[in-house]
Amino acid sequence: MALVNEQFLKLPESYLFSEIAKKVAAFKDTHPEARIIRLGIGDVTRPLPPTVIAALHRAVDEMADAATFRGYGPERGYDFLAEAIIRHDYEARGVKLSPTEIFISDGAKSDTGNIGDILSKDNRIAITDPVYPVYVDTNVMGCRAGDLLPDGHWSDIAYIPCCAENKFIPELPAEKPDVIYLCYPNNPTGTALTKSELKKWVDYALKNKVLILFDAAYEAFITEPDVPHSIYEIRGAKQVAIEFRSFSKTAGFTGLRCGYTVVPKELKGFRVNGEEVELNALWNRRQTTKFNGTAYIVQRAAEAIYTPQGQREVRANIAYYMNNARIIREGLAAAGLEVYGGVNAPYIWLKTPDGMGSWEFFAHLLYDCHVVGTPGVGFGPGGEGYLRLTAFGNTPDVEEAIERIKEWKM
Ligand code: MLT
Repeated sequence: MALVNEQFLKLPESYLFSEIAKKVAAFKDTHPEARIIRLGIGDVTRPLPPTVIAALHRAVDEMADAATFRGYGPERGYDFLAEAIIRHDYEARGVKLSPTEIFISDGAKSDTGNIGDILSKDNRIAITDPVYPVYVDTNVMGCRAGDLLPDGHWSDIAYIPCCAENKFIPELPAEKPDVIYLCYPNNPTGTALTKSELKKWVDYALKNKVLILFDAAYEAFITEPDVPHSIYEIRGAKQVAIEFRSFSKTAGFTGLRCGYTVVPKELKGFRVNGEEVELNALWNRRQTTKFNGTAYIVQRAAEAIYTPQGQREVRANIAYYMNNARIIREGLAAAGLEVYGGVNAPYIWLKTPDGMGSWEFFAHLLYDCHVVGTPGVGFGPGGEGYLRLTAFGNTPDVEEAIERIKEWKM
């Protein structure tokens, strides 16, 4: 008799974005004439940059020739990509890393979800609330969350509230956790931490031997100078933080799949007896056992992003999305709605009008405006009374969605 992992039975039946997709499909079935504008899941709409496409074609041709064909690659990823990452994403910001500290993968979702494999189930986990649901759901699967309480919290997780009152800037927890997830620029609130705000967290982690799992998937969308792109810009962070990065939103790789995780050599975890263990070695062991590497052609495509022309094309796409963010932010604010984010991130966090619940507002937007958002409460109890819109749509659609919401609001 195969016993199941009972933890899965504690989770809501579907993952947040699958649940929304089901609701939208049901609406579409009954209203086939509705032109739905999707600003729900953060999926990009601009095609891959031409430089990336050219690199893909070249790599495909290499695979067609016995002289240049590649089979299994290094599980950690090819050095040509790790070196390009180090040069452009880190050395340019004064951070030194070696290729053995970079683990190329199929994206930040997998890595933030899988990282728990190398951590004891006895760790006390802290998350900001609201939060990207992968962190919570994977800790439920990994036996670290306890039980779901009627108010939507998990009994063993420490919640760090991010709300309008604290401007969505988390305060250091009163009770010391072992592991903290931080995502900045933030999904879902679209807000960012300045260097001095992030430094507080690094100092706290150094002092208390806390591991920070830092999700920097949206760093490319930062527009303000005082917002760090990497946690390693803060002194001492290599001793306390793992950083996750993604090409999904930066370069349109949501369908192609590529990201990377940085596990510095000087970062240590602990055995129960206090003995130090290199987390880099554990993650390497995990990846070499469970992962056979990202496709060669995809890694060549990612490398192309770092060429001067690739950079120009990627930046143009990001500017396109951030213009959408501005349209959403300004349009909804002009309609009298309370909006946050959208300056250093492609997400706009919106207070629901008239004290509506998140799902109620989601339903109004879908039924009355034919616009899809993401209910804030889907990101945790702290998101109740909010809704998230993404800036990843086509500009004419975004403009139309905002006009429809404005009209509905009047
Ligand atoms: C989101 O909408 O929060 C993201 O697209 C989800 C993801 O990146 O997995």
